[in-house]
Amino acid sequence: MTEKDFIPKPYSSALEKGSFTWSSPSNIALVKYWGKKENQIPANPSISFTLDACKTTTELKFSKKSNSCNYSFDIFLEGEKKDDFKPKIETFFKRIEVYLPFLKDYHFVIETSNTFPYSSGIASSASGMSALALCLMSVEKELNDKNVSEEYFMQKASFLARLGSGSACRSLQGDLIVWGNHNQIPESSDLYGVKYPFKIHKKFKNFHDTILLVDKGEKQVSSTVGHNLMHNHPYAKQRFEQAHDNLSKLKSVFKEGNLNEFIAIVESEALTLHAMMMTSMPYFILMKPNTMEIINKIWKFRQETGLHLCFTLDAGANVHLLYPEKEAEDIFKFINTELVAYCQNGHYICDRIGFGAKKVK
Ligand code: PMV
Repeated sequence: MTEKDFIPKPYSSALEKGSFTWSSPSNIALVKYWGKKENQIPANPSISFTLDACKTTTELKFSKKSNSCNYSFDIFLEGEKKDDFKPKIETFFKRIEVYLPFLKDYHFVIETSNTFPYSSGIASSASGMSALALCLMSVEKELNDKNVSEEYFMQKASFLARLGSGSACRSLQGDLIVWGNHNQIPESSDLYGVKYPFKIHKKFKNFHDTILLVDKGEKQVSSTVGHNLMHNHPYAKQRFEQAHDNLSKLKSVFKEGNLNEFIAIVESEALTLHAMMMTSMPYFILMKPNTMEIINKIWKFRQETGLHLCFTLDAGANVHLLYPEKEAEDIFKFINTELVAYCQNGHYICDRIGFGAKKVK
C-alpha cells in the first residue's frame, strides 16, 4: 500500500446527515517511537500493547452544509465546549483532506469523553485521534454504499489516525501492534499499524499495565518538539538501529515467553527514550524524583522475589508497571503497599492488554 491507495475514487452515495460513535483505547509502546520524518513517517519501527480500560469514546455528528468553503466543526469534551482543541483538529483535517475529500461538505459536532481524567498526564491523543479517525471512516463507508472491506477500513483508519498523532495508529486493533517498516515483520508499514503476525506465548495473555500517576501536570515538552529534537541528535543513528534490533529480539521473546529478556528490552527502551531527551539540545529531564524512587523499588522487589514486574515510561514522569497475569496477586499487593505512596494523591489506573477499538453505534 502507498499513500495514493488511500485517495478515494468519487463517492457513489449521497448523505445528508447522521452520526457514528466509536470507542478506542490508548496503547503503551514496548519499543518506542521517538523521531519522525516528514508527514508523520516514523524514524524507526515501534511495537505496543493495546490497552483496555484507558479509552476515548467519540460521537461524530455530521450534517451537509450549503457550501464547501471551509471546515466547520464544534468539539466538546465531557459535554464542555473546547475551542482550544480546534487548532489541533483543524491541522488534522488539513492533513487528511486529500484522503477524505468530504470534510468541507459537512458541519461536524465532535463529542468526546475519556475513561481517564484529561489532566492525568496520560496522553489522550492516541485514543482520541484513533476514535475520530474511525468515526470519519464510518462516514466514508456510508458514502461508498458500505462497499469497503474490513481490512481496508482498518488500514485506512490507522493511516488517518497516524496523521493526527503518530502513536494513534497503534490503537485500533490488538493486542500487539507494530508500526514502521521492519525487515523481519511481513506487511509492516510506516503508513499504518499492523497486527503482530507471529506467535505470542501465553505468558503475555492478559498482561497487566498499572499506571502510576506520578505527575498529572501539563507535559513539559510536547511530543512534536521531542520528535523534532531527534533531527541532528548526536545518537540518533544508533538509536534508530537499536529499535530495529530490539524488535528483532522481541520476536523470540514473544515466541518463547522469556520474561527476563522481555524486561531487559522494555526497561532499556524506556530509559533510552529518556536518555534521548536528556542528550538533545535543548535537553530535558521528564522523570521526577518519585519516578526514580519507583524504579529503584521495582528493581529491589525483583531481586528479592524473582517476580517479573517491570516498568516503562512515555514522554513524562508517570510509570507504567507491566506484569503477567499469573503473578498479578503478589505484585498488586506490592504496588499497594510500596508504590502507591509515590503517586500524586495516591492515584493510579489499573489497565491490561486489550483488543482495540469498538463501534458503539
Ligand atoms: O504519538 P506521539 O507523537 O504523541 O508520540 C508518542 C511517543 C511516545 O509515547 C513517547 C512513544 C511511543 O511509541 O508511544
